[in-house]
Amino acid sequence: MSNPMNKNPYVIANWKMNPETKREALSILRGVKNRAAYLHNVNTVLCPPSLFLHPMAGLYGGKKVKFGAQDIFYRRGSGSFTGETSADQLMDADVEYVIVGHSERRDMGETNEVVEKKVHTALKAGFKTVVCVGEKARDENGEYLQFVKRELKTALVDAPEPYRENILIAYEPIWAIGGGPHDAMSSHEMHQMSLYIRKVLREFFSEKRAEQIPILYGGSVERSNAEELIKNAHVQGFLVGHASLDPDHFVDILEIVNEVAK
Ligand code: PGA
Repeated sequence: MSNPMNKNPYVIANWKMNPETKREALSILRGVKNRAAYLHNVNTVLCPPSLFLHPMAGLYGGKKVKFGAQDIFYRRGSGSFTGETSADQLMDADVEYVIVGHSERRDMGETNEVVEKKVHTALKAGFKTVVCVGEKARDENGEYLQFVKRELKTALVDAPEPYRENILIAYEPIWAIGGGPHDAMSSHEMHQMSLYIRKVLREFFSEKRAEQIPILYGGSVERSNAEELIKNAHVQGFLVGHASLDPDHFVDILEIVNEVAK
């Protein structure tokens, strides 16, 4: 293991609004679970649509694969909040991870302030909380860096201690999402970004905390670019979209990351 960043990496599958049926969801899980069981160096997480969480947890019964939700509501318990899912309902479905602030949700109107509330709720409920940040486009003047800094700061500056150890950051530049392997960021660019994110974190967290928070990369991660990225991009794992819907493809990524983390 050449790079300390590669210790206990995370590979988190973001299925988005896929697949169409429970049958297909269980079939992807079946395709992942047996091979994933032997990959001890990588944290494997599946985030299906919340409707599939219960049947998937029911089928699984193992320990290696963890489940996550793609969103959470900021009010706890139950109540009159049509369409929302609470931390307590997610806990009841054996969820351990929550993704907050994905660019596709921000695109539907979720503001930095709403993301902040959700992050606090998720952390206080004890979830490992994956905070997504990333710019739409890059510009010569470096405005995009300020944009990412604002996203990070609003979401995290008041994150409650002692829950900060459950924060993960997923940097996902929107321009790199949903493409092919050539649309992903280069490992060099991601390395720069990861240094920048840590610099921002040091502005409001202790040096130690800022060093500990895992930074993941997301945006067109596939089996063909995973090795280069995990070795050289200074990230502690990936948030994987389209490639996570094909169990063979996803397990290949898991195996690559597991091997590098040995
Ligand atoms: P992608 O999606 O891997 O399909 O680019 C990543 C994401 O949006 O989380």
